[in-house]
Amino acid sequence: TSYLLLNGILPDKKELSDFESLLKGNREIPDNLKKIIQAFPKDGNTMDMLRTGVSALGIYDTTSATNLEKAVKIISGIATITTAFEAVKKGKLIVDPDPDLSHAANFLYQLNGRAPDPYDARSLDIVMILHAEHEMNASTFSCTVTAATLSDMYSALTSGIGTLKGPLHGGANEEALKTILEVGEPRNAETYVKEALGKGKRVMGFGHRVYRNYDPRYKVLKRISRDLAARKGALSLYETAEAIETATVSRLSSKGIFPNVDSYSGLVLHLLGISPELFTPIFAISRTPGWSAHVLEYLEDNRMIRPKAYYTGELNLQYVPVDKR
Ligand code: SDX
Repeated sequence: TSYLLLNGILPDKKELSDFESLLKGNREIPDNLKKIIQAFPKDGNTMDMLRTGVSALGIYDTTSATNLEKAVKIISGIATITTAFEAVKKGKLIVDPDPDLSHAANFLYQLNGRAPDPYDARSLDIVMILHAEHEMNASTFSCTVTAATLSDMYSALTSGIGTLKGPLHGGANEEALKTILEVGEPRNAETYVKEALGKGKRVMGFGHRVYRNYDPRYKVLKRISRDLAARKGALSLYETAEAIETATVSRLSSKGIFPNVDSYSGLVLHLLGISPELFTPIFAISRTPGWSAHVLEYLEDNRMIRPKAYYTGELNLQYVPVDKR
């Protein structure tokens, strides 16, 4: 998927093997960057850490690498930065990458310090594929605006990470899981949603700037969450999520509000044993190929982006010197 996004075509066997080796060869991060991560406050926000970690990765990349080569370094390095910070937060040693594992499996290995269940690794792989690219969403637009000034790939992706942090964009699946856990069981969903909407609150994981119907990614994530919940003996969580969906859609579908990618992705990650503060970092890790692809594509025929703004203040004001104001 990353190769397709960066190169515009699916790789043949040799291209895929070479690309996988390239990604695996870029999983290590500089020792000095590990020292910076170790100096972060243990209760620091994971997206703040990721924004700073990727920015610092750029400082240590003193090579004359092309933007495509930098994209590969970030696709691999951002996953290691995330698991390194998680280890430091838990007072554990940073786990070095395992070159025999896939991108998703290696993430779970570095996160937990043990090889993952292949079924869990495949579930995370699908989550990452579904989040890899999504046209010109807010964070992709941030990356593109930054790159269009001919700044660098690290600055562009640091812009994207800062934008994705917002709960209206990348942070929604963390909030959606909180809702599922707060509702607790299916029979509470109707009352919970009715009261939340009555107070003018938003049900996180629903609605979209583009989709006015079901987000196609939601269907796959819903199925994965059901299968994982069955495997982990947590079907009541899945049924609660489904009851929230039913209660929300019955009230909001007339406004074109339906489940989006975040409605079940938080539940999938929770069932994979991943803590909520890692949900948006995983979104960023997954979206790095898509962010990079849009930067590379835009730079092929670059034009700086400078939107107009409407002045809505008073007109014909006269200057009044400060001692007369
Ligand atoms: C992502 O763009 C992308 O592609 C993004 C993304 C990607 O892959 O990159 O798909 C990822 O960001 C998905 C969206 C995740 N965010 C959430 O789940 C947060 C909850 N959703 C909303 O805040 C909202 O739906 C937005 C921000 C996503 C979209 O909002 P819009 O289209 O700008 O609509 P709006 O905010 O102007 O709301 C229109 C009406 C309002 O009601 P009224 O004031 O007209 O009465 O719909 C209501 C809103 O209150 N509304 C909701 C709601 N979403 C919109 N009401 C309750 N719950 C919701 N979730």
